[in-house]
Amino acid sequence: MGSKEENKCCKSEKEGGIWFTLSRRNFLTLAGWGLFFASVGAYLGELFGYKGFFYPKVLFEPSPKFAAGEPKNFLPDSVTTLKSRKVFVVRDGDSFKAISVVCQHLGCAVEFSKEKNIFECPCHGSKYYRNGVNFAGPAPRPLDHFQMVIDDNGRLVIDTSIKVPLETELIV
Ligand code: FES
Repeated sequence: MGSKEENKCCKSEKEGGIWFTLSRRNFLTLAGWGLFFASVGAYLGELFGYKGFFYPKVLFEPSPKFAAGEPKNFLPDSVTTLKSRKVFVVRDGDSFKAISVVCQHLGCAVEFSKEKNIFECPCHGSKYYRNGVNFAGPAPRPLDHFQMVIDDNGRLVIDTSIKVPLETELIV
């Protein structure tokens, strides 16, 4: 009788014990590996920065050299603002100039006033003649002028990385 109870007792403990021991072992094993990979991931993330390791650290800007279109697209005696390029194309008869929109005081974008035929800065009131020369306000010097050439396809090509003297003009 004692042996029957013993068997009963041990069988149920054995079953329960085996189930509990295996489950705990699996759980701890999985938790251990999870912790390990999380730690390695966090360390590598700190080391290389998020996404920084996979992407080059460069600024993507448009090329300073671009085609502005054919000369006939610019009306005679006109000032055309190429806003995205921060350049004015000034046409006087057959003469073309590429003038920067960036004010020489603190860098605001100047605007062309058709009525006054001058460039005006909305920030602190600097004024520039149509040829870019400053005559009023705090701007210390004329607007920058950029190189402009005609390419093989007959288009005006402006290079804002090359500054040219004020008197430079492209005759077409
Ligand atoms: S930024 Fe143009 S006048 Fe100051």
